[in-house]
Amino acid sequence: MSILEIDGLSFSYEDGTPAIEGISFKVESGEKVAIIGPNGAGKSTLFSLIAGFRTPFTGKVIVNGDALDDGSEDKVRRHLGMLFQDPDDQIFMPTVEEDVAFGPQNLALDDIQGRVMNALRSTGTEALAKRVPHRLSHGMKKRVAIAGVLAMEPAILLLDEPTSGLDPRARSDLIGLLNGMKRTMLMATHDLEAVADLADRVIVINRSIMFDGTLADLAHRKDMLEQAGIELPSLSKLFSRLKDMGYDFRHIPVSLDNATSETARVIDEMGRKRQGR
Ligand SMILES: Nc1ncnc2c1ncn2[C@@H]1O[C@H](COP(=O)(O)OP(=O)(O)O)[C@@H](O)[C@H]1O
Ligand SMILES: [Mg+2]
Repeated sequence: MSILEIDGLSFSYEDGTPAIEGISFKVESGEKVAIIGPNGAGKSTLFSLIAGFRTPFTGKVIVNGDALDDGSEDKVRRHLGMLFQDPDDQIFMPTVEEDVAFGPQNLALDDIQGRVMNALRSTGTEALAKRVPHRLSHGMKKRVAIAGVLAMEPAILLLDEPTSGLDPRARSDLIGLLNGMKRTMLMATHDLEAVADLADRVIVINRSIMFDGTLADLAHRKDMLEQAGIELPSLSKLFSRLKDMGYDFRHIPVSLDNATSETARVIDEMGRKRQGR
């Protein structure tokens, strides 16, 4: 059984513009899925439907076999931890530590103190424990919001643009942290380098699903990239150009590791050819 099943979700806002239409996919336990698409594609709307903050017009969200709409909302919500795109929508308690404790307290979880400590430590926000969250910088607020989600230890993390607005160090710390977590994750993002490091699978949406596969496969789909307004990381663009120039790259690498091994292979091959072997 899939840990998350999205079945035919559609939703429109009050003005009648459809935000998402007929979205269906399944996520297996432990899978890390990136949801990408241009601004206004419906990523945040999709997450608010999955988290149960909005009710779909049609379709169902099934978490661990329980549908969101059949009276099991509380049970289902307990499995889901949502990081909002804007940290100001998430943090509201007078101190950082109270803010991080709020979620676990609300769910009546055990060992609140331990959870808060762990979450602050893993997000590098221990020193901020007594600070007023609203006075922090955007990046720090974002880390605090992430700590609040982690403190609930949800089975499924819904992360809406988790790396946006973070400085390079905080961004790579966060990617490292998420990479080390054996947890099911859906992550809406424009940060394709983070996707390359983190995600097993990429779903491109623009109101409905346009692509569902690996980033490596998506990198070859120029039509799709253009249509969905997706910019590949510079690294991948470099390889794409070299490939167009006739260099014998078998695929377009999306991560530094891939790029290194693919470049070494091509250089070795050129060397062998030159030596007539
Ligand atoms: N609260 C809202 N009221 C009305 N329209 C909205 C609201 N939030 C989002 N929309 C519209 O719904 C569509 C999808 O938005 P959103 O889910 O925020 O996209 P994304 O997160 O991919 O940028 C857009 O056309 C957006 O303008
Ligand atoms: Mg959004």
